Amino acid sequence: MTVHFIGAGPGAADLITLRGRDLIAACPVCLYAGSLVPDALLAHCPQGARIVNTAPLSLDRIIAEIRAADEAGQDVARLHSGDLSIWSAMGEQLRRLRDLGIPCQVTPGVPAFAAAAALLQTELTLPGIAQSVVLTRTQGRATSMPEAETLANFARTGATLAIHLSIHALDRVVSELTPHFGPGCPAAVIWRASWPDQRAIRATLETIADRAQGIDRTALILVGHALAAEGFDESRLYAADYDRRYRPVGPSPRFSE
Ligand SMILES: C[S@@+](CC[C@H](N)C(=O)[O-])C[C@H]1O[C@@H](n2cnc3c(N)ncnc32)[C@H](O)[C@@H]1O
Repeated sequence: MTVHFIGAGPGAADLITLRGRDLIAACPVCLYAGSLVPDALLAHCPQGARIVNTAPLSLDRIIAEIRAADEAGQDVARLHSGDLSIWSAMGEQLRRLRDLGIPCQVTPGVPAFAAAAALLQTELTLPGIAQSVVLTRTQGRATSMPEAETLANFARTGATLAIHLSIHALDRVVSELTPHFGPGCPAAVIWRASWPDQRAIRATLETIADRAQGIDRTALILVGHALAAEGFDESRLYAADYDRRYRPVGPSPRFSE
């Protein structure tokens, strides 16, 4: 018996890996994390599967479901939205399952920030503009932030920021970032990226709060100069004169045999 943690992707039913889909189809028990996992993914469950929405369950009840499957010798597909490496609560489940000696495997998924960037048709790391992406959030009712992980600290680096779980605090996000990025810095709010009703609002730090009024819950805030940059350098990697292992250039290439 194995518990398969599977990244269910950002919303579109076809943005799951083939491995994830096949595991869902092979597991007689499926536990899924509420409304961010699309119903269409549950259609891959085998006939007669036990399918449980874990949104209203405590951690104890979720583990009890898994223990029951373990006792019955049934594999479990455990679905969380996006990828499992960020804000999935997988860590605490893995720790309990390790203590119980229940084997687990993890299959990654497409994270929401990648779906948001795809909708904007934007590369978040542009040469000379930004070479880092910070995946972060603001403090929530259930989660406090480590002291040094402030928006201001991240903004000082000039990296592109992908701010999750914070659309309700958009005004505060704007006021903390503006002194560092400037009011004209590009900003975007992406709602339900990859779902049929997805929306993308492009603006600046000065205008985003007005433009995104009424947007709530499943939305990501992206901020950074890479979002609207046109005058960036081309990457050296593909420059005609750049000597590299797979494309030796010049009379004495660095990587020639
Ligand atoms: C609990 S976190 C889950 C993140 C997820 N594990 C991932 O890999 O993206 C939920 C937050 O992710 C963002 N999010 C999730 N799905 C989204 C989507 N389809 N479009 C925009 N933002 C999304 C929102 O900021 C939301 O508040």
